[in-house]
Amino acid sequence: MSASTKRIALVTGANRGIGLETVEQLAQQGVTVVLAARDESKAVQAAGSLRAKGLDVVALKLDVTSSADIQAAARFLEERYGRLDILVNNAGIFAEAQFGGNNSATVTQAELRRTFDTNFFAVIELTQALLPLLRRSPAGRIVNLSSILGSLTLHADPASPIAAAKNLAYNASKTALNAFTVHLAAALKDTPIRVNSAHPGWVKTALGGQAAPMEIEDGAKTPVALALAPEVPNGAFVHLGQPLPW
Ligand SMILES: NC(=O)c1ccc[n+]([C@@H]2O[C@H](COP(=O)([O-])OP(=O)(O)OC[C@H]3O[C@@H](n4cnc5c(N)ncnc54)[C@H](OP(=O)(O)O)[C@@H]3O)[C@@H](O)[C@H]2O)c1
Repeated sequence: MSASTKRIALVTGANRGIGLETVEQLAQQGVTVVLAARDESKAVQAAGSLRAKGLDVVALKLDVTSSADIQAAARFLEERYGRLDILVNNAGIFAEAQFGGNNSATVTQAELRRTFDTNFFAVIELTQALLPLLRRSPAGRIVNLSSILGSLTLHADPASPIAAAKNLAYNASKTALNAFTVHLAAALKDTPIRVNSAHPGWVKTALGGQAAPMEIEDGAKTPVALALAPEVPNGAFVHLGQPLPW
């Protein structure tokens, strides 16, 4: 592909974990990737290590909870590329004191608000700011990093494998994110843009912990496929090509 037809992607929270791996896999497929991180020095360092492997990766400071950073990111993309083909909303936090059990009776307002700020409100603000650029793509893709823990269908089933992990702030933030996926997909259905939620799997990262069964390389496969496959669904919740219940 020539420079002008190379796809342009932005991945948030991409200095480590699934985000960093997603950047690498997208760039290996010939995409120009903007590696965004809230700490500028970490963005520069991570992008530099991928460029050293010959990959087309550009660093960008982007704290997704900062409106100023979001506006600056939109300006940067507009001035440098004039469009955006792929947005991977990967940045996410688990802000509760403990993983597992059921904290519905005790979760604090601070935990709820902090979690929703990053995992839900920021995704909507960034996506809306970048939509004019995504509309200029011949086949725009928005991939929201959700979690199976956001599935209400599975949480309502006491026999489901995730039933014991009722961390209200994190789980509800991903349920709300899934609502954004479905609603935005419907709003954009007559455009070439496709909007989907990806469950990466339970992956060995700082967030997933070392007990997780999946390696980071495999955890990036679902968002990368939803970003790159020529045919993808619209408004779906997917893990490794399989639909998950909402
Ligand atoms: N790992 C799993 O098992 C699993 C399962 C299901 C879903 N997910 C989802 O997958 C995504 C990636 O998770 P991960 O496991 O790779 O987590 P991780 O290793 O903890 O990485 C999270 C990334 O998000 C960034 N981040 C947090 N707040 C941010 C903000 N305000 N602005 C910009 N970046 C921010 C972090 O940056 P700093 O380095 O600056 O903190 C870090 O780069 C998350 O949305 C998560 O919910 C993960």
